[in-house]
Amino acid sequence: MTVLVTGAAGFIGFHTCLRLLARGDTVVGVDNLNAYYDPKLKQARLAQLRDLPGFIFHHTDIADRPAMAALAKAHPDITRYVNLAAQAGVRHSLTAPFDYTTANVEGHLAMLELARANDKCRHFVYASSSSVYGANTKLPFAVEDRVDSPISLYAATKRAGELISHSYSHLFRIPTTGLRFFTVYGPWGRPDMAAYLFAGAILAGEPIKVFNNGDMRRDFTFVEDIVSGVVGVLDNPPGDDGVTPPCRLYNIGNNRSERLMDFIGAIETALGKKAIVEFAPMQLGDVKETYADISAIQRDVGFAPTTPIADGVPRFIEWYKEYHRV
Ligand SMILES: NC(=O)c1ccc[n+]([C@@H]2O[C@H](COP(=O)([O-])OP(=O)(O)OC[C@H]3O[C@@H](n4cnc5c(N)ncnc54)[C@H](O)[C@@H]3O)[C@@H](O)[C@H]2O)c1
Repeated sequence: MTVLVTGAAGFIGFHTCLRLLARGDTVVGVDNLNAYYDPKLKQARLAQLRDLPGFIFHHTDIADRPAMAALAKAHPDITRYVNLAAQAGVRHSLTAPFDYTTANVEGHLAMLELARANDKCRHFVYASSSSVYGANTKLPFAVEDRVDSPISLYAATKRAGELISHSYSHLFRIPTTGLRFFTVYGPWGRPDMAAYLFAGAILAGEPIKVFNNGDMRRDFTFVEDIVSGVVGVLDNPPGDDGVTPPCRLYNIGNNRSERLMDFIGAIETALGKKAIVEFAPMQLGDVKETYADISAIQRDVGFAPTTPIADGVPRFIEWYKEYHRV
């Protein structure tokens, strides 16, 4: 089976490629290697993938339609898509809003157009985000909840991706599945996210900034669990009864809302060093709590996360120390 994975040099994309290659799939990876965070980390992930049998990489922007059309022509065997390329992060959207519309809306639509032009397309899976729940207070967050009050541009563009996908499933009968990821962490993680930022600061003896005075909860999900969900979903496209559009949305989280201070405690334990905590007020665009209702993905594809933070955090820290040689 040939799968087109976008964001292949990114955190979740890299792990997804590894898993697909390990089971013998051919993976056409795409990434524009942008400098939102250190591209050396993206190159280092790619270096792990490059020599694996079945991996082909294209340094391309998903919003570059002629380049993506040429890529599709070069790989006529693609039957499945995993669209993970995106501009992530909440704070960056305050200063670079068009990065979000280019990657998350234009790029997403360009990917759907590729799927539409491909008669062999069996399934289009894409990343959404728990941030679409905005400031919803009903917990756990369920896919049936209303999500029309985003509190960041990132969330608004992710929700736009979901709506655009729905319209393409309806119009062109493309089977699509959107996955709302909840705070993913693990080896090869993202330097702009809490686990990475905290580990670096604690090791350097610098203070860590903890927002909302530490009164935050997150459904932290270990990356290996996420990838099991992505691949499980990819293998199970929604059916088409000719009436309802063949499109689905799932939450994919750990189904445990952890206190941020407990997550920091797990990092301190794994590092054997205490953090210097500097409490700060809530950040603009951030949410206080996330907690995923994962019953739908559990029921449909047997998704069952198995990694609590007590196991996942030490695995992240082990990788961090090796990668940074500290
Ligand atoms: N990590 C999380 O906790 C989390 C939570 C919710 C949603 N998500 C979503 O999951 C997906 C993967 O996230 P990640 O954590 O791996 O982020 P990441 O930033 O590590 O990976 C995204 C990759 O996409 C690439 N990219 C960005 N714009 C592109 C474009 N226009 N064309 C080609 N490549 C482009 C980047 O260079 C990067 O390597 C994203 O869609 C993100 O919004 C992640």
